[in-house]
Amino acid sequence: MSISKDNITDKVIDEYQFSGEREQVLVHGLIRHLHAYAREVGLTHSEWRAGLTFLTKAAQFTDEGRNEFSLLSDVMGLSSLVDLLASPPRATPGSVLGPFHVHDSLEQPNGVDLKGEQPGTPTVFEGVVRSADGEPLEALLDFWQNADNALYPKMDATQDYHNLRCKLRTGPDGRFRFRTLLPKPYGIPDDGPVGDLVRAAQRHCMRPAHFHVIVSADGYRPVTTEVFFAGDPYIDSDAVFGVRDALVTQVENVPDPAQALDAGMPTPFSRVRFDFQLVALSAPQA
Ligand SMILES: [Fe+2]
Repeated sequence: MSISKDNITDKVIDEYQFSGEREQVLVHGLIRHLHAYAREVGLTHSEWRAGLTFLTKAAQFTDEGRNEFSLLSDVMGLSSLVDLLASPPRATPGSVLGPFHVHDSLEQPNGVDLKGEQPGTPTVFEGVVRSADGEPLEALLDFWQNADNALYPKMDATQDYHNLRCKLRTGPDGRFRFRTLLPKPYGIPDDGPVGDLVRAAQRHCMRPAHFHVIVSADGYRPVTTEVFFAGDPYIDSDAVFGVRDALVTQVENVPDPAQALDAGMPTPFSRVRFDFQLVALSAPQA
């Protein structure tokens, strides 16, 4: 069979036969959509070469601590789409894991003071973890955020490795409480080809401030998500499309010295309340 522009897609797909059904679906779908893209936009030789140059440059910017392909997935909204596809109904929606999570955070007691004496807005972050049926859950929260200089410890040698992150278990009442700082908006790395792409599209590279949390409980589907704050200047234009309405909460300013004393906080302090909801492992996928 001679190859023509009309039969090349089917011919290529026929040549890729995998033993696994899922590999077959993934690769055949990828070929079909890549070919459809080239046809739809009328891809020229110079545009195809520019695309390859972009990917080559992305590879040059990728190493142990930086993944330009992951960043590309983020700014194209693909990471968020995968999160949304994996978020079951009635669970707290998922949102990007990001590059700053580490697996060896230390377990701390409920109520821990993570902020110490460092600069920033002292903030109590508290809430309840529940099942979709409203039952409080004994859960594990894996928590991380940036410091007042908008940097995570991975980016900032002046911070302790464990600064502003921990694992914390709720009690049987599902309640959790951290004493921490309000996180800051920050820019994604913009010195590589992804930064060039974002600027060329007249977008900015900023993310609204957020807490990162992975919430898990025995018998329930874990949720990797972020908590955002109403009024943030970037809440409607997150460079990586991580904001969902259900993840935005208010920051309450508490000027009352009696409440501060009761909370073990300086005056004034901020309070952020957010409840997480998990669905059982047996619940249907989205
Ligand atoms: Fe982050």
